[in-house]
Amino acid sequence: MESDLPVRLGVLGDPIEHSLSPQMQNAALESCGLKMRLARFAIGPKDLGRALKLFASLNFVGISLTVPDKIAVLNFLDEVDENAWAIGAVNAVRFRSGKLFGSNTDGAGISDAIRSGIFGAASLSQWPVLLLGAGGASRAIARQCALEGCPKLFLSNRTRERADKLGAEIAKVNEATTITVVDQESEPLRQALREARLVINATNVGLRADDRSLISREALTGEHFVYDTIYNPPRTALLAEAEAAGARFANGLTLLLYQGARSFELWFDRKAPIDVMRAALQM
Ligand code: ATR
Repeated sequence: MESDLPVRLGVLGDPIEHSLSPQMQNAALESCGLKMRLARFAIGPKDLGRALKLFASLNFVGISLTVPDKIAVLNFLDEVDENAWAIGAVNAVRFRSGKLFGSNTDGAGISDAIRSGIFGAASLSQWPVLLLGAGGASRAIARQCALEGCPKLFLSNRTRERADKLGAEIAKVNEATTITVVDQESEPLRQALREARLVINATNVGLRADDRSLISREALTGEHFVYDTIYNPPRTALLAEAEAAGARFANGLTLLLYQGARSFELWFDRKAPIDVMRAALQM
């Protein structure tokens, strides 16, 4: 990559040094002949407003947002699309004529990831899903499940009230999706797993090397498909349990790829070079 190219895109979060977005997006920019690059910025909610003003004045094309900025950014945007508004979080911003437009590509990104072949012909519309978590990532995924007509969605969160609240919101998205909130304890989870075939972890549990799995191998079978939105470490305790149970499993690298491709498409109104991006992530 030509490193003297101007920075016109950013990925913002705090911490940010582990983000793989630069290697993925810069490969895409280069392959499309776009003479700019994306850089990481360690910026938390408190500096976000000032940073966005500066980026707008420098003619930035867009930014990606990660933890903990996805909600705080809502305060600084001129427009937010309906999907991001309903989710309550933005992970992609486009700059156009000095105005800032917010979107959320996480839900569609996970849908693409599940349909990308990692689990054969699986999709969010096909099977009962058990979703762990009720934070920003879970909100995007739960809504996507309902939009795609998932028949049954089990929601489980450490703080049950957050799952109850999310469940009530998601029930309004699609009447055909049955929502069941289950306590995050082994027996209720085991019960849910008798029906659910696709399990998605969208909690932070697994980020730290000593984190234990929220689901034990005894609750899983060879019929289950286990997706962890975490990609670093590449094999969380949950995925190790899935493997031990003979379930199929995948980590969040495919989510990173597809949400990034959709962000690229928002920034440039053109198709993302997905194969180049995949190769840049060494997938
Ligand atoms: P994100 O935007 O990445 O989803 P978030 O909104 O902070 O981040 O959500 C983190 C999720 O991980 C929440 O569902 C959180 O559960 P609570 O709602 O109870 O906080 C979950 N989480 C974090 N640490 C956890 C832990 N040790 N055990 C179980 N769940 C945990």
